[in-house]
Amino acid sequence: FKTNPVKIMKCNSKFEVFVTRADMPESGIEMIRRECNVKLWNRSSPVPREEFLKLVPGVNAIYCCLTDKIDKELLDAAGPDLKAVATMSVGYDHIDVDECSRRGIRVGYTPDVLTDATAELTVALLLATARRLPEAQEEARSGGWVSWAPMWMTGPGLADSTVGIVGYGRIGQAVARRVKGFNTKQIIYCSRTERMEAREVGARKVEFDELLGESDFVICCAVLVPETRHMFNRSSFNKMKRTAIFVNTSRGGTVDQEALTEALTHKIIRGAGLDVTTPEPLPLDHPLLALKNCIVLPHIGSATIDARKTMAELTAVNILEALKGLEMPSELNS
Ligand code: DGY
Repeated sequence: FKTNPVKIMKCNSKFEVFVTRADMPESGIEMIRRECNVKLWNRSSPVPREEFLKLVPGVNAIYCCLTDKIDKELLDAAGPDLKAVATMSVGYDHIDVDECSRRGIRVGYTPDVLTDATAELTVALLLATARRLPEAQEEARSGGWVSWAPMWMTGPGLADSTVGIVGYGRIGQAVARRVKGFNTKQIIYCSRTERMEAREVGARKVEFDELLGESDFVICCAVLVPETRHMFNRSSFNKMKRTAIFVNTSRGGTVDQEALTEALTHKIIRGAGLDVTTPEPLPLDHPLLALKNCIVLPHIGSATIDARKTMAELTAVNILEALKGLEMPSELNS
């Protein structure tokens, strides 16, 4: 690299904010830069851990994203001046929120503003997996398309199907509203509590096992917490219909990938569409990438231009408000 990996932008503020990526949307960085001194990791790849630890001592806030682990070690390195951490994501499994709360560090995130984008991608991935779009395109490109054929490239449709949504928060609900429009027979969901919002689409709350057994499409929208880690494991895949399509747009950690690979290889389920994996990126030699009945996307759930811009701006406001001692618009530990 010719350029310095760290860019300093000063504005005579008493606050310094560390921003972990050079390619965070401009509008978000600009909002911070106008009111605070900015120390920017001037690369479009994640800040390596050792650098991260060296760059945070004394900063007042950290503007980060889901690739940046904010744990005890990092908080120790930052020291007592750190007042706020804001992540440009709705997911916060990369942040030790309890530890931040213990130290009086406020944590911001970006719910709501990416709900539509992520729900759209979830439905797109579900349809692409069921109707085998990447496989079909490959046939068209490679000469496999010899002629129209009665049962060639067929897959299940959403009409008259049962859709099971695991995790009925904002994104799960937005997915339900969308799939309802495809003339589905029923939508069932599982969640810790009964959700009033489910009435809007006539969705019924069921136990996890019932959802697995009844659904033609199983969609994971659950947050990653210790209770949901590997909730999709060998036993869960065995309970699904052999014709089921599994879609995950939440976090890779909810799935035991070895069990999923086995389920797809042995046709225990029909197919899977994954926007999230463990690790990310998935190594090129990972068996899931070689399976025709599996689509893997590079974590693009919220990747509409508007959603990402709005997420960046909300992250900036979260930080600025916290530094002023005001309420963050989206705070995790308020
Ligand atoms: C999030 O925000 O947590 C999504 O997974 C990525 O935008």
